[in-house]
Amino acid sequence: MSDFSVLVTGACGEIGQALVQGLAKKGGYRIVTTDLMPLPDAIKSLAAEHVQGDLVYRVKQFYAYDFDVIFHLAASLSSKAEVATEEAHRINVEGTMQLLMMAAFKSERRGKAVKFIFPSSIAAYGMPDVAAKRKAGRVKEGEWNNPHTMYGANKLYCEKLGEYYGSFYGQRHLDEDPPVMLDFRAIRFPGLISAFTLPSGGTSDYGPEMLHAAAQGKPYACFVREDAKISFMAMPDAIKALLTITDAPKEGLTSHVYNIDAFSLTAGEFRDWAMRSFPGAVVTFEPNRRRQGIVDSWPEDVDDSLARADWGWQPDYDVRRFFEDYFLPEIRKRYANKPSLRSVE
Ligand code: SER
Repeated sequence: MSDFSVLVTGACGEIGQALVQGLAKKGGYRIVTTDLMPLPDAIKSLAAEHVQGDLVYRVKQFYAYDFDVIFHLAASLSSKAEVATEEAHRINVEGTMQLLMMAAFKSERRGKAVKFIFPSSIAAYGMPDVAAKRKAGRVKEGEWNNPHTMYGANKLYCEKLGEYYGSFYGQRHLDEDPPVMLDFRAIRFPGLISAFTLPSGGTSDYGPEMLHAAAQGKPYACFVREDAKISFMAMPDAIKALLTITDAPKEGLTSHVYNIDAFSLTAGEFRDWAMRSFPGAVVTFEPNRRRQGIVDSWPEDVDDSLARADWGWQPDYDVRRFFEDYFLPEIRKRYANKPSLRSVE
């Protein structure tokens, strides 16, 4: 059997690099990547082809391909999107729209659904204030869909566009013999943490930034309050979720959009783990009003029971396993030759 043909957009990003490695490890895929940047050495040999350039203008070129699955990861993250709103809209919405149209056309033309896998975010939620956030606790997909950020609004709207192209495009579903529509599946990710790469332009970045700084013996000034709390996840779990939802039988899916959860931590608890793991780590709290406001609008935790029921979602890493079995062993290797690193085994 020939390989599945896969497109990964935003392949040079954190999720992109980890996903390309995950797909290559799993095998059976011909991986085409695209990004503004050239592929980093870590994944260069894993892609059959890399298309470098601005996705909005590149999508035309992809009509010549026959992708079975599209992982559309390219995005401008939440903090960056607040300072360049128009650019964020172009990347996050127009790029998605162009790709959805291509996937919808291809699904109909070949009579076989293209799977369109979309990373959405906890930024799709918007809590009015900290009191409401604390009271709400774990939120379900349909609750608090009032994002405060450009990025969150973009993600929520793109979920809706995906549902539209996946179920109602041109009202073709009402035809006597409806054509095949694309198969849109979105995951609302919490803050992600990789031991190998650092995020840029996001607001949950204080978690990974703090840990990478502590591991290198560098002081870190955290841009949110000690009591700021949102959910986080180890990068390997995020990749597992993307691969699992891609393979899930369509009959079992009752929604186009799913929360997934692993662990929820305050910034102060991150600091405590950093201090325990790297004695002498220096972490201070110097909240930035705007970025704090964004985190205050995101839920403390999410309810992922739908993902668990529909496609068997289960994280491998709770907070203890995240630190002990994933982050600390990997980060020690990564910074092993740095003399400033002092860590507790
Ligand atoms: N991690 C993202 C950000 O901070 C949220 O999905 O922008």
